Amino acid sequence: MLPAQNRCRPGLRPPWDPVDAGRGVTACVRVFGRPGSRPKTLTPVLAAGDHARMSDSRDSMTGTTAVQAQVLAGHGRFLIAAAARAPSVHNTQPWRFRVSPDVVELWSDPQRKLRADPSGREMLISCGAALFGLRLAIRSLGYLPVTELLPDPAQLRLLARVRTGAAAPANGLERRMLDAVPHRHTHRGPFAPGPLPHGLLAGLQHDALAEGATLALVTGGLAYDRLERITAAAARRGDLNPRARAEIRRWTRTAASMARDGIPATALASRTGRPPGRLPQRDFDLDRGIARLPSGGAPPPATAVLLTPGDRRADWLRAGQALYRLLLHAASQRLFASLHTQPLEDTATRGLISSQLALPGHPQMLLQLGPATTASATGRRLPGEPDSP
Ligand SMILES: Cc1cc2nc3c(=O)[nH]c(=O)nc-3n(C[C@H](O)[C@H](O)[C@H](O)COP(=O)(O)O)c2cc1C
Repeated sequence: MLPAQNRCRPGLRPPWDPVDAGRGVTACVRVFGRPGSRPKTLTPVLAAGDHARMSDSRDSMTGTTAVQAQVLAGHGRFLIAAAARAPSVHNTQPWRFRVSPDVVELWSDPQRKLRADPSGREMLISCGAALFGLRLAIRSLGYLPVTELLPDPAQLRLLARVRTGAAAPANGLERRMLDAVPHRHTHRGPFAPGPLPHGLLAGLQHDALAEGATLALVTGGLAYDRLERITAAAARRGDLNPRARAEIRRWTRTAASMARDGIPATALASRTGRPPGRLPQRDFDLDRGIARLPSGGAPPPATAVLLTPGDRRADWLRAGQALYRLLLHAASQRLFASLHTQPLEDTATRGLISSQLALPGHPQMLLQLGPATTASATGRRLPGEPDSP
């Protein structure tokens, strides 16, 4: 067994719970590039064939141990492409992968860390999300992933090692989540009217718990008003911060840009007044008029805070896994979320949210969830995409 601090989700055994892990890396596939680097081709990250394979575990079900050992290397590009569809702060994609025949390593890429994120909390939440994507992709090959979190204290950038465990076909929910990978997106435009399907929120709360986090629902006018007041004050301060503004300029893309990182104009909403029931969003437009989505729309049916019991690197990785898991679960029912972390970049504001809402943990992400039809998926760098000259 792994030491307790290295297990992904202590005490819980959902389908992809980690059980054990060995060591050894023999070859590398890396994903990296400078921010804003122009792609060499326009191939979509998940090609149609790749996506079909995510849902098809037939060929892997008869695998022997020897075949199993080779399975990761044989699917390296697919696994990385699937993992890289994860959400990341400002679409920085601050991760690198190394694939060998029997293990995929996930590394952080501190060159892609935001200055507004000195502790690397948001970078690690993003990498945790990619880790969940990787685990889910391994499920699509018909194996249970075995995850070793923060395996080597001497290598801080090495965040996880993932191997294949026992053969087991993906279940129905996993397959639906895999199907949602290509169209899941962060939603910043108007929400459509309509309630959430019965039982969905309980399902998302289960997702968070299964990953070692808690999804606290902000129900009742008083709690929402408090959250709204705190986040609005934090957003006003954040929007005026010259360093944060420079960083947003660096990581947002105009409609003409071909970059496959950063947030494209097509995913940004104009800031003509904040609709009722919506938490304040970062000012991504910065008076440039680049945002292509309208504002307005119905109030989202759910507002939630994702919490972790601790506030260390392993907690941030767990928060990221929980986040991507519940976002994919929601997207499998065509429900999407707006994500809000600007207020959480200020330590005092995080504490205030926690105490004013009496939350049982450390806030890692604020999100609002609802039906939406207006946005499309954003781009990703390709596995092995080189730095542009
Ligand atoms: C840790 C983290 C923080 C984020 N913070 C915000 C935020 O404050 N505002 C926002 O609109 N989106 C936020 N996002 C969403 C990213 O901008 C989004 O994931 C990225 O642009 C990729 O787009 P996609 O999620 O549509 O694939 C955040 C995502 C993560 C993982």
